[in-house]
Amino acid sequence: MPPAALFAHQHLLGIEQLSAAEIEHMLDLAEGYVALNRHAHKKSDVLKGRSLILLFFETSTRTRTSFELAGKRLGADTINISVQMSAIKKGETLIDTAMTLNAMHPDVLAVRHPEAGAVNLLARHVNCAVINAGDGSHEHPTQALLDALTIRRRRGPIAGLTVAICGDILHSRVARSNMLLLKKLGARVRLIAPPTLLPTAVETFGVEVFHDMRKGLAGVDIIMMLRLQQERMAGTFVPSQREYFHFYGLDEEKLALAKPDALIMHPGPMNRGVEIDSVVADDITRSVILDQVELGVAVRQACLEVLARNLPALDHNR
Ligand code: CP
Repeated sequence: MPPAALFAHQHLLGIEQLSAAEIEHMLDLAEGYVALNRHAHKKSDVLKGRSLILLFFETSTRTRTSFELAGKRLGADTINISVQMSAIKKGETLIDTAMTLNAMHPDVLAVRHPEAGAVNLLARHVNCAVINAGDGSHEHPTQALLDALTIRRRRGPIAGLTVAICGDILHSRVARSNMLLLKKLGARVRLIAPPTLLPTAVETFGVEVFHDMRKGLAGVDIIMMLRLQQERMAGTFVPSQREYFHFYGLDEEKLALAKPDALIMHPGPMNRGVEIDSVVADDITRSVILDQVELGVAVRQACLEVLARNLPALDHNR
């Protein structure tokens, strides 16, 4: 099969649009970048002559830095736009900003925005490739891909594993993208949260739902913890952080209910003492939180590579 046929999309907007074969292909490709990134010489010319613009309307440490590193290691010209310093501060709309950047002929635009659907909307107004780096509570596809790679490298095939996603599911794009991906690859997904932090119609998602952390963690292979996304909350969703930690925070006592070798994951940023205790977060025999960060660069390199295959060819003779 020609490489372009292994990923048949102009954009990477969500896990929803991807097939299991496309996901596995990107994870396989990322494996090669994990090895390359551990060498002193990390550069390739896969994106030589291409330009990548990062446009983040929300804060980020992991996603933005790893996209910038990924682009640079692949040889792309990588530009990081600070929203604080841009004309957005003068009232320019998202679409006008996107069309302005598009007029400069970038090849790829990676966008994070606080509104669900904003990145999909933007993609309809540009002709470069667009990557969703997180849109509101909707999707964060590269996070789910790096989480899958982390699981696969530690536990082998994802099919048949039981994965518990715990905490603020309602506001979490990470939870949504992971649910979609894990189900496509054949995992069993459990959601564990208080009723106030679950979306309506959760029973239609094809997952098991628990309100009791102790019951939900019983026998699971993987535990994904999520922080309380205060920035998306209008009103009160939990009585207090202290009470939330008592019932839903991952500590040694609750962890003991999962399989003895269950992995602890967290997309970051962590709020220690709120959704996770430092003892379990820092347990290097169980916690793969820093592996997730490392693999994030490789996964973003793989995403950029598959999208670049579907760009118009560069004429190196001109
Ligand atoms: N996981 C994640 O998206 O982290 P950042 O907000 O730091 O990018």
